[in-house]
Amino acid sequence: MSTKPINITMKAIILSGGKGTRLRPLTYTGAKQLVPVANKPILWYGIESIVAAGITEIGIIISPETGGEVQSKTGNGDRFGAKITYIRQDEPLGLAHAVKVAQPFLGDAPFVMYLGDNLVQSELDLFIDKFKSKHLDALTLLCEVENPSAFGVARVDETGKVLQLIEKPQNPPSNLALVGVYLFSPAIHQAIANIQPSPRGELEITDAIQYLIDQQQSVASFRLQGWWLDTGKKDDLLAANQIILDTCLESTHEGTIDEASKISGRVHVGQGSQITNSMIRGPVTIGKNCKIQNCFIGPYSSIADDTTLIDIDIEHSVILKGATLEGISARIVDSLIGERAHLKVAPQRPKALRFMIGDDSQIELT
Ligand code: DAU
Repeated sequence: MSTKPINITMKAIILSGGKGTRLRPLTYTGAKQLVPVANKPILWYGIESIVAAGITEIGIIISPETGGEVQSKTGNGDRFGAKITYIRQDEPLGLAHAVKVAQPFLGDAPFVMYLGDNLVQSELDLFIDKFKSKHLDALTLLCEVENPSAFGVARVDETGKVLQLIEKPQNPPSNLALVGVYLFSPAIHQAIANIQPSPRGELEITDAIQYLIDQQQSVASFRLQGWWLDTGKKDDLLAANQIILDTCLESTHEGTIDEASKISGRVHVGQGSQITNSMIRGPVTIGKNCKIQNCFIGPYSSIADDTTLIDIDIEHSVILKGATLEGISARIVDSLIGERAHLKVAPQRPKALRFMIGDDSQIELT
């Protein structure tokens, strides 16, 4: 029998621990959930989405390695209108393990579980309404993908009922991937207590949901209509950056733009930034206190605070805080450049450059 105290206020947990191996070298020094998309940490989109659905008690799962940074950047929740509790998971032993660690925070409350490296366009209200009205024990979100083997995959019947869930199967039974947003009743805690670590040594949330299914408890799925991005890899991150700039960017010029510069399309220029003799074609967002001189900045670029770009031609790229790029005549495309990276090129002109450069890198092609 499941317990479904639907009148208890819902809580949320966001998983922001883990190792972040796929975004290395950036994540050698920082949390992958703090890597910015359109100059805002990925994690914050999840917090905002949860708060927009009326849930204000949020637990964030953090790791010993990156938890301090997540906590100091994100704060106690005041800026989001939420109350954030940080919950330390000593080792990344799996998504279900993270729920286990969060159990004292969650108590008997039904809850949303949000993976801190996922970005989901849809509003959560829809899913919460379905979860409550159907008295579900678990609601999963599914999305068609081209590479289901990289995800948890669901086999569903024609009514959308989940029959089977498999984590990263070699031979996927469908192209329906599990999106990193789940809704659970407290029945999930009992399920987690009954599963064993998978062959990769993790307590899998897919196995816990499968346990609920096997126990005939009510598990349903919802097909996601809008976009969903798992930002675990560079190209996913660039895709996320493109979508957010396309859909959410407002044109505001708070910095100084000289007369020789030309700005077209939606472009945000943050306070204290100086644009000199440059052309910027939106959508582009430029943070605070940047110096942009003799540059072309093309669509889908996000330039974080305190960045210096001199004689640069760039598009469809993300540059993190405090980076310096100078003297590269070839267009930089599809690139992700880490915090404080320093890249200076003498005037020999390669035709294309494609980078993934870690924090504190120093590159001078002279
Ligand atoms: O993105 C959707 C996919 O997320 C689902 O399709 C899969 O079923 C699900 O297992 C998960 O797969 P990933 O391989 O992408 O999970 P990842 O290890 O990247 O972890 C997801 C988030 O949870 C990330 O922000 C790190 C955090 N995490 C992860 C683990 C393993 C924790 O906080 N603690 C952990 O122990």
